[in-house]
Amino acid sequence: MSDSGATPKVSRKVLSRRNSQGVFINGDGRQMGAAAKYELKNPATSRAAELNIMSGTLGPDVLDISHLTRDLGVFTYDPCFMATASTESKITYIDGDAGVLLYRGYPVEQLAEHSSHLEVANLLIHGRLPTKGQLDAFRDSITRHTMVNEQLLRFFQGFHHDAHPMAMVSAVVASMAAFYHDTTDINDPRHREIFAHRIIAKLPTIAAAAYKHTLGQPFVYPRNDLGYCANMLNMFFSVPCEAYSIDPVAAEALDLLFILHADHEQNASTSTVRLAGSTGVNPYAAISAGVSALWGPAHGGANEAVLDMLDGIGSAANIDKFLARVKDKSDSVRLMGFGHRVYKNVDPRAKIIRSMCYRVLEKMNKGNDRLFELALKLEEIALKDDYFVARRLYPNVDFYSGIIYSALGIPRSMFTVMFAIARTAGWVAHWQEMVSDPLMKIGRPRQLYTGPTKRDYQAIEKRVA
Ligand code: CMC
Repeated sequence: MSDSGATPKVSRKVLSRRNSQGVFINGDGRQMGAAAKYELKNPATSRAAELNIMSGTLGPDVLDISHLTRDLGVFTYDPCFMATASTESKITYIDGDAGVLLYRGYPVEQLAEHSSHLEVANLLIHGRLPTKGQLDAFRDSITRHTMVNEQLLRFFQGFHHDAHPMAMVSAVVASMAAFYHDTTDINDPRHREIFAHRIIAKLPTIAAAAYKHTLGQPFVYPRNDLGYCANMLNMFFSVPCEAYSIDPVAAEALDLLFILHADHEQNASTSTVRLAGSTGVNPYAAISAGVSALWGPAHGGANEAVLDMLDGIGSAANIDKFLARVKDKSDSVRLMGFGHRVYKNVDPRAKIIRSMCYRVLEKMNKGNDRLFELALKLEEIALKDDYFVARRLYPNVDFYSGIIYSALGIPRSMFTVMFAIARTAGWVAHWQEMVSDPLMKIGRPRQLYTGPTKRDYQAIEKRVA
């Protein structure tokens, strides 16, 4: 509460701000000598707090409210983080209105065209494009960390054959701390590096083990002569009794999807990794928390839900009926793969994946894929519909990704696992950024308490139902 109970009013007058070169300027863009400030004033008491303005290199300024409680005795209220920057970060930038996504400053479209997932992972973690020597060394290290401890593999035998792969993967990732505790000192940069390589290298192996368990097939060991995605396909689809030939288009498509899913600044799972990691917990536990957060249908689980939705719609003739349900506020049905907290324009990743769909489906002899045609029609109709136009709802990354995964033979229950493998690069980069900051503190939100005020315990015979 404020010191008087009256509502403080924010004065919107910007005294000054810092430009992208770090120089303080006023509203006219003229250079200023003093730091920028907003003022938040409680009119009842005239007590005021000055809020510093922090300018990033791109994006809106943010107000530093960290001294607000000290100065005015109030907290701020922003459930679901609609207007709160939870951290400062140098990793990824999104302009949701313009549909722009930059990893360490590089447009995702350029990385999708020229880069590889491992190069992008290295970029996200280290902040610069690696030289050939740096990339070779990184790739070598990842390749040599792909095997997992044999005892860890036995965990899978404890799961039912129909366990969801995400349940297995999050549990096994958390268990990695029990096997690799020699390198969980978060204050040791070398430990952090080994952890980063281990988790990026071993997640595909763990995912493949989960998949093979659901099939009842023998686990296939990683092969060091294959690239990151080719090795994954081999672990997923080969069996010991016959030769398996890896389709280079499939490996390329997977690599592209992984680049596009590698990071997305402070999304729900990344924020979960940061919050869990801020307690100083071992990094495997923090990543496992991220895997669990990713599973929800509002986040990484949407790719699985999109294909279930398309199946449910069945054919183009049913689209109008389906969209009527989506628009009916008394019905909980949503158009999965549409809408985004940040993008109010087409998600740039969705555009790239849609083009990749044509190539993959044609190469995989699935040129007439029924679900892709249905998805295209659904997108076309939704984008002309007032409901979606008014709310600025566009296809997001998950609208088309499941169609590619399906064409590659990956089952729906594995889609979110694939997302988790890709996003591990981003989770690691954010965890590293946070933990290597000497000012890191435990993340601890406050609340607006609306429960009962203090009351006395009542003996059971005096209570009424
Ligand atoms: N279908 C129908 N209506 C929608 C949808 C949708 N997919 N998304 C948002 N809306 C409506 C929502 O009902 C609300 O309408 P109103 O103002 O009348 O109440 C308005 O649009 C704003 O939606 P919101 O739920 O307040 O927006 P949000 O920022 O909290 O949610 C979202 C973002 C991604 C959770 C949401 O758009 C959604 O549920 N989409 C479907 C699930 C999905 O595709 N998730 C993947 C996101 S991208 C990948 C990732 O993050 O992992």
